[in-house]
Amino acid sequence: MDLSVRIGKGVLKNPVGVASGTFGYGQEFAQVMDLDKLGAIYTKAISMEPRRGNPTPRIVETPSGMLNSIGLANVGVEKFVTDKIPFLAGLDTATVVNVVGTTMDDYCNVIKRLDDIDTVWGYEINLSCPNVEAGGIQFGTDAAMIEEITTRMRGVTEKPLMVKLSPNVTDIAEMARGAERGGADAVTCINTLVGMVIDTARQQTVIARKTGGLSGPAIRPIGVRMTHEVSRAISIPVVGIGGITNTDDALQYLLAGAKAVQVGTWNFVEPAASQDIAAGIADYMARHGIARIDDFAALLDRRKDG
Ligand SMILES: Cc1cc2nc3c(=O)[nH]c(=O)nc-3n(C[C@H](O)[C@H](O)[C@H](O)COP(=O)(O)O)c2cc1C
Repeated sequence: MDLSVRIGKGVLKNPVGVASGTFGYGQEFAQVMDLDKLGAIYTKAISMEPRRGNPTPRIVETPSGMLNSIGLANVGVEKFVTDKIPFLAGLDTATVVNVVGTTMDDYCNVIKRLDDIDTVWGYEINLSCPNVEAGGIQFGTDAAMIEEITTRMRGVTEKPLMVKLSPNVTDIAEMARGAERGGADAVTCINTLVGMVIDTARQQTVIARKTGGLSGPAIRPIGVRMTHEVSRAISIPVVGIGGITNTDDALQYLLAGAKAVQVGTWNFVEPAASQDIAAGIADYMARHGIARIDDFAALLDRRKDG
């Protein structure tokens, strides 16, 4: 049985990773689980300069999920290199750096700063940031812009390059095609959905910035549907994410067409869930005679009503 997953020039030892923004820089979880059991750690978003993020309150619980407006708070690339990489480098799991910026140069400069570091396995590009050079429109909501930024980043690295798709679009498959045309090695599907919660006693939005990104089990059926749609629109791998809490949830994504998965919000509820999911997928494969992760995708299409 082979649990490994090829993405571009890289190989993940198993398909289960932990999602950007929900797992810090890894060290925070070392006490509660065996990090070496993970296929990948997707770091908190890294920008050129440190970011303090948005004003508080910036998190609120919602039915089967949460809304966040953290605003990509992070230590910045220099501190990431000096303070965070040494710990990550000692792990037997891939470090995928989630990259953000407000201009295309910003994104490229983060990658240029990191690319010579051997233990940086690859990059996941977070496009849910306003493009200040294009009037503040989010990078991830325009297929031509996705293609352009992916092409630019492809020009500065040969390492695995994943583009994280926003679900806040009319046609996510079109966005995925843009990433593929630009030379991405994979797409991550999905980021959070924009939502709002209002405190009726105070007659105010709960989140200071009014809206936030909805995540957790509430969005799982949307993530699975979008993974199914995107995996049939492109030929590069899809990394499925959204509302995964256990093995069964992860299997839904693999059957929908994902080659790998990420656990996000659930890390706050059950910090070791991702480790159990990796073991659970292996067990399911053994029971169902599935030899490789690649073999999952065809299973759903075998069923007439799949
Ligand atoms: C508190 C929080 C912070 C997040 N920060 C980032 C981030 O820095 N970069 C990113 O690409 N996605 C970020 N996300 C989105 C998650 O990585 C993931 O795409 C989303 O939460 C859906 O997965 P889930 O339902 O399993 O949480 C964040 C999500 C949460 C809840």
